[in-house]
Amino acid sequence: MAIQFSLGYNDPVTTDTQCLIVGVFEQGTLSPAAKQIDQASSGLISGLFESGDLDGKPDSHLLLHSLQGIQAPRVIVIGLGKPGPLKPVAFHRACLTAGKALAGLPVRNASSHLAEIDVQGKDSAWKVRTLALAAAHQAYRYTATVKADDSKVHLESLSISADSEAEPGRVQASAIASGEAVARELADLPPNLCNPQYLAERAQSFADSHDGVSLEVLERTDMEKLGMGALLAVAQGSAAPPKLIVLQWQGAGKAKPYALVGKGVTFDAGGLNLKIHGGIEEMKYDMGGAAGVFGTFIAAVEMRLALNLVCVVPAVENMPDGGAYRPSDVITSMSGKTIEVLNTDAEGRLVLCDALTYTQRFEPQAIVDVATLTGACVTALGKHATGLMSKHDDLAEELLDAGEATLDRAWRLPLWDDYQKQLESGFADFANVGSREAGAITAGCFLSRFTENQRWAHLDIAGTAWASGRKGQASGRPVQLLSQWLLTRSG
Ligand code: BES
Ligand code: MN
Ligand code: ZN
Repeated sequence: MAIQFSLGYNDPVTTDTQCLIVGVFEQGTLSPAAKQIDQASSGLISGLFESGDLDGKPDSHLLLHSLQGIQAPRVIVIGLGKPGPLKPVAFHRACLTAGKALAGLPVRNASSHLAEIDVQGKDSAWKVRTLALAAAHQAYRYTATVKADDSKVHLESLSISADSEAEPGRVQASAIASGEAVARELADLPPNLCNPQYLAERAQSFADSHDGVSLEVLERTDMEKLGMGALLAVAQGSAAPPKLIVLQWQGAGKAKPYALVGKGVTFDAGGLNLKIHGGIEEMKYDMGGAAGVFGTFIAAVEMRLALNLVCVVPAVENMPDGGAYRPSDVITSMSGKTIEVLNTDAEGRLVLCDALTYTQRFEPQAIVDVATLTGACVTALGKHATGLMSKHDDLAEELLDAGEATLDRAWRLPLWDDYQKQLESGFADFANVGSREAGAITAGCFLSRFTENQRWAHLDIAGTAWASGRKGQASGRPVQLLSQWLLTRSG
């Protein structure tokens, strides 16, 4: 269930809440709220500094119970680092630490004083939004296929001490959090349940329940008529029929839309170039781009953004059955360009190229595609930054700024023509893979051949879309980045 956020000024000493959250700095410097608690509890917090139990270091926290003179039965003390206005990234981390501590407690409501802390260059709306999004992020639990423990108490409401000017931040956080949660759930769902058909059904139920939203789902026969030979080639090795899901939000009359295109490979076995080198079990996340654009769409609709938005999701499964496409096949894309398939595991760019061609019929003012596209991007940037590629400096800047503002950050890689040479082929207009060098960029180069004359950017989220490891979970990225980008565009 979504957390309800509220704003108002709460007295930390007398507030009736199940858990208070306050910050402290290093060297025993207390935030105003922590100081009030310290005074009301006869110096308990400063005593903990003296005894060394508390150091105020970043990423640290301490849970205190039943403080004398304090109404709330629990107080979480969050370490903020060196005294003074925080860097945005430090505030963000403190909020994530607080959210995580809170999510582990048996409390239904809580009251946070973290948004009272000064953050360099940020207003209270930003602080409230960051705090609320962090709390929602940490409260997320995947439950679709696990037995729920009904006795478990969850956070239902969070009261945030802040002035009423922060109200837009609160509203935005609720919308973006709900989009992020759907994105994470879709990506976390196993591929036997979350297949192309399922993605189309989820889009349908969202469209049915929201005014201003329309949906069209193109079937295999529709795609055949359009000549989507690249998308269809990927789909032909799977028993699951492909879907091209097109969601539209009309928030600004006849204005040209923004377009988001998300890779929706619901499972990437690699095709005949089967993934034999490990990691195949993580490939349910290969629809992370689709999840990200769908989550952003939900956030945009819930914020009722004054712009038009179209989301296009090519949804397929990449499997190796007897009908599968082969390495060395030459296929014809919707654009008419022919492609030599040198590796069936480079399928993302094949489904995206036809989706990108299709998207141009909406005459978008900008197209951003989002895809778990290359292992090479993970090698280059790790799990911290999304790879951003664009030939349009202004669009690239907009997206980098949105990433910085939400700390859902991207980092730009060059799309110079120098790299295009790698895609040369003797049997088609070009090949679907280059050499081992600069794999994230050559994938971007491939897509650039289908977006000529478009204001287009590509986000490679292979590293950022989920946490790896046994308990890896979808991160919900880049829902925050894209929601912020659209929010800024909507003025
Ligand atoms: N879905 C993968 C990319 C991927 C790899 C995402 C690891 C997340 C983690 C993509 O379809 C793929 O297989 N890419 C190949 C491209 C190669 C064959 C040129 C890759 O990155 O190895
Ligand atoms: Mn692949
Ligand atoms: Zn893939």
